[in-house]
Amino acid sequence: MSAIFPKGFDTRLRLAAGTVLIVAGALLGVVLYLAHPQQVDTGYMPVQPVAYSHKLHAGNLGLDCTYCHYTVDKSRFAAVPPTEVCMNCHARVREKSPKLQLVRESYATGNPIPWVKVHRLPDYVYFNHQAHVTAGVSCVHCHGRVDQMAEVRQLQPMSMAFCLDCHRNPAPNIRPAEYVTSLGWKPEGDPAELGRQLIAAKHINPPQNCSACHR
Ligand code: HEC
Ligand code: HEC
Ligand code: HEC
Ligand code: HEC
Ligand code: HEC
Repeated sequence: MSAIFPKGFDTRLRLAAGTVLIVAGALLGVVLYLAHPQQVDTGYMPVQPVAYSHKLHAGNLGLDCTYCHYTVDKSRFAAVPPTEVCMNCHARVREKSPKLQLVRESYATGNPIPWVKVHRLPDYVYFNHQAHVTAGVSCVHCHGRVDQMAEVRQLQPMSMAFCLDCHRNPAPNIRPAEYVTSLGWKPEGDPAELGRQLIAAKHINPPQNCSACHR
């Protein structure tokens, strides 16, 4: 600290001035941390109306993501499944469980289960699941190991920097499209080398121009 103040400055004054500088620095740090888009929403894990577990259904039972999110490779939105999909099994499996009371009510009344959305981009951002999934970008790059989560939480910031990091260098994140929902899948060799081959073969070219994501 002494280098900042002229020689002969009173020691107590120097200490006081130093403390002010440190506090100001810490405050600035907090403000920058909170304002930085990378921090926004990461870790967000809302309480859901039904204690549905991906770890059980997608992990242990091995259901494919597209069994429930069946629009993910066909449209912009992945879509949360209608209650009918749950009742394919739960009409017979655990059909009296109190944990499934709301599911049975929803099926009987036709009112959808009020699932709480976990990931949400601002309205001024355009995103498309189909474009990513058919290009061979796995769910795991954006959502993490959902098949190991009892409750879904947001792992990635979904910030502009997050999107652009991959758009600038997609190769390590491209796999054969048939493995996009196998979240634990690893290629034999270098993932980036395989990615480069697929990018060349399929002419994959993620956009970096503003109007691609801000239409
Ligand atoms: C048996 C049906 C089912 C299967 C299979 C399934 N999901 Fe889900 N998924 C749901 C339901 C219901 C919700 C809404 C409740 C919740 O968030 O837990 C959901 C929510 C999600 C969300 C959060 C959506 C949001 O609100 O932002 C993600 C991400 C997700 N699933 C990814 C996956 C992935 C990846 C797989 C495959 C590994 C998968 N799901 C398999 C039923 C399913
Ligand atoms: C392919 C069949 C299948 C589908 C589809 C399915 N489940 Fe399940 N679910 C199971 C099985 C099997 C169990 C575990 C039963 C056990 O523990 O013996 C289970 C357990 C549960 C439990 C815990 C019940 C308890 O009493 O502990 C809940 C809650 C649940 N499922 C919700 C859902 C919801 C919500 C959906 C739709 C989004 C859904 N399930 C779709 C097969 C299915
Ligand atoms: C490149 C990143 C990326 C990939 C890959 C990706 N997602 Fe998403 N996902 C998102 C974003 C961003 C949102 C929030 C979209 C919004 O708010 O408009 C989202 C939202 C969702 C939702 C909530 C419903 C919706 O459509 O808004 C579900 C369910 C979901 N994703 C499942 C999946 C599954 C299953 C896969 C793999 C088959 C997958 N996602 C692959 C980024 C991704
Ligand atoms: C892990 C890699 C990865 C991440 C993360 C990612 N993308 Fe992409 N994105 C791609 C690839 C690869 C393509 C190119 C698809 C092609 O050329 O066929 C693409 C294409 C697109 C397109 C053009 C598709 C169309 O329909 O015009 C948009 C828009 C887009 N991404 C938006 C986003 C946004 C917004 C985010 C962040 C929320 C994001 N992406 C995150 C890899 C990624
Ligand atoms: C690959 C997709 C993508 C591209 C390309 C892109 N953006 Fe964004 N942009 C985003 C996302 C996602 C957000 C939302 C960030 C958030 O919610 O924290 C965003 C947010 C913004 C914001 C809001 C302020 C902020 O930082 O939160 C501005 C301004 C912006 N972008 C300008 C631009 C400009 C200018 C370009 C071209 C040079 C551009 N964007 C290109 C995805 C993109």
